[in-house]
Amino acid sequence: MDYAQVYAQAKADPDTFWMRAAEAIDWMTPPTKALFDDNAPLYEWFSDGTLNACWNAVDRHVEAGHGERIAIIHDSPMSHSKHEITYGELRDRVASLAGALRAKGVEKGDRVIIYMPMVPEALEAMLACSRLGAIHSVVFGGFAAHELAVRIDDCEPKCIIAASCGLEPGRTVHYKPLVDGAIEQARHKPDFCVIFQREQEVAHLEAGRDHDWHAFQYGVAPAECVPVAGNHPHYILYTSGTTGQPKGVIRATGGHLVALNWTMRNLYDMNPGEVFWTASDVGWVVGHSYICYAPLTFGCTTVVFEGKPVGTPDAGTFWRVVEDHKVKCLFTAPTAFRAIKREDPTGALVADYDISSLDTLFLAGERADPDTIQWAQATLNVPVIDHWWQTETGWAIAGNPIGIEKLPVKIGSPSVPMPGYDVQILDEGGHPLPDGELGAIAVKLPLPPGTLPNLWKAEARFRKSYLDHFPGYYETGDAGYKDADGYLYIMARTDDVINVAGHRLSTGGMEEVLASHPDVAECAVIGVADPLKGQLPMGFLCLNAGTQKSAEDVAADCVAMVRDQIGPVAAFKLATVVQRLPKTRSGKILRATMVKIADGEDFKMPATIDDPAILDEIAEAAKALGYPR
Ligand code: COA
Ligand code: AMP
Repeated sequence: MDYAQVYAQAKADPDTFWMRAAEAIDWMTPPTKALFDDNAPLYEWFSDGTLNACWNAVDRHVEAGHGERIAIIHDSPMSHSKHEITYGELRDRVASLAGALRAKGVEKGDRVIIYMPMVPEALEAMLACSRLGAIHSVVFGGFAAHELAVRIDDCEPKCIIAASCGLEPGRTVHYKPLVDGAIEQARHKPDFCVIFQREQEVAHLEAGRDHDWHAFQYGVAPAECVPVAGNHPHYILYTSGTTGQPKGVIRATGGHLVALNWTMRNLYDMNPGEVFWTASDVGWVVGHSYICYAPLTFGCTTVVFEGKPVGTPDAGTFWRVVEDHKVKCLFTAPTAFRAIKREDPTGALVADYDISSLDTLFLAGERADPDTIQWAQATLNVPVIDHWWQTETGWAIAGNPIGIEKLPVKIGSPSVPMPGYDVQILDEGGHPLPDGELGAIAVKLPLPPGTLPNLWKAEARFRKSYLDHFPGYYETGDAGYKDADGYLYIMARTDDVINVAGHRLSTGGMEEVLASHPDVAECAVIGVADPLKGQLPMGFLCLNAGTQKSAEDVAADCVAMVRDQIGPVAAFKLATVVQRLPKTRSGKILRATMVKIADGEDFKMPATIDDPAILDEIAEAAKALGYPR
């Protein structure tokens, strides 16, 4: 069957299509049907089946006689170490950790926050929660204590599992003090913490609350896999919205495993036993899906890489990892390739390695610029496949399903909708637009299995953010168009979300931090173009009359505040003071116009602008920060 037939089949009879896909998953009780639409426009999949995610990702492979197969390869140029864990070992380690969590009271439905760097123990912690039916929420290590505290208060975890430290080039990230700080700030207090002590930094443990990862497993009985319903939340993953309050995206267990497992062969063209490497972080959705659950559920070997594309030690690291571990499919963000290209423009370092195992490079997380795609294609001599997705969907909305059919690649497009996604381009009134016309990208409901059924304890926000604007559709928050062959082009966000080095951030969240500075009267944060990271945040500050501090000092304070409250990942380093912000006559800040000015693009003077002269001051301020580039 070709792509068009598979897509048509999923559209014509979704129940049969997804029930067939569900046969590749082990169920304790098989579901009687796929889609549960009684509560539309809220949809669920496989709700009356029961299963366990850890069983599917780990135990079943051991039961099938593949206990000696490598499940995880940890490759850490940061700690100069490499090691492998078989499926058999992984099963034992996860069962033991789950047993210890259970002994401390963690049960099905309890939440557990995981705050760990790229070590196999991060996956083991996720899998141990899955084993018990506990709902994990992994928080990216680049977020600061305050962000962690916000998540603690939202999902109210019984336990926090963390590592003592993370390793970033040139510095050690002190995870444990961040955890302590977050617990202090949060209203909700977890019952206990489990700390994985790394040899690079051993953390202080709070007597009575904190337990050592190894010691607390001593003598406990390993836990068996607990059956959960197909619609049981597998995890919560927080992602940036338009405010500082992140959205807790829920992933339901059954649909998650069915969809991810389906993608491994059909989208990524993998076979069990082959090596899949996603160079990202378990703190992002890409890491949840394609470092942990998809490759393991499908029986592949997954690479957990603790390093950067450049500087650890050089721009040849990725090729060294491909050679050492015989990686078949590499998945990363375009920014990683821009970093490599900047250090090694001719791609000379590739020649030092045997990368013949590599079949395909997949890119996602941000717009893949044509230059980067062409450079990667020429340097690696493999197909470079852009695919488009979001934390909310958990897997690709659009891609090139090379396991079904290698469709022609059109540079600049993440190709075509995946089965189950009826993608439409809509005008403001919600009417479908003709091919080639730019509009809001929406997906006709229901979304396929694996996508978010709701937000954690925030159904009203879920409806408002995604369902209300275009009734009958899921609003993606991206704008773009479709061509005559049905290829999609993703052009920009329609909200205040920006994408910095493949990391999704909220300018609204940053504005909330800046506005809390005692000398700041009002502010605006915009995303400006950056040749390496895609976008960078830039803050414009208006000060209170009579402020004693200098403009430079307030700007420096603001940079420090964002790093301290949101985290280094925000990469907020550009801040400047202006007298006024450009606004419409009704008082709305003209952020889009400010972006165009900072990027040096042509723009149309907004008809509703209150005072056009302010734009000159914005241009001057951006110029002082080195923009346009
Ligand atoms: N824990 C703590 N801090 C972290 C972190 C983590 N897990 N990840 C990043 N940071 C810090 C960095 O050390 C940096 O701090 P600094 O301001 O002190 O230098 C800051 O957050 C910004 O990080 P980043 O934007 O990643 O920039 P970088 O200069 O460290 O690296 C790239 C740039 C392009 C090499 C890097 O962003 C990269 O490899 N990106 C791949 C994209 C990716 O994984 N995307 C995920 C979605 S697919
Ligand atoms: P995240 O939820 O962090 O995965 O970020 C999702 C957002 O990243 C999307 O809504 C897009 O704005 C952007 N994005 C992800 N993949 C792509 C892609 N292939 N092309 C263009 N934008 C992308």
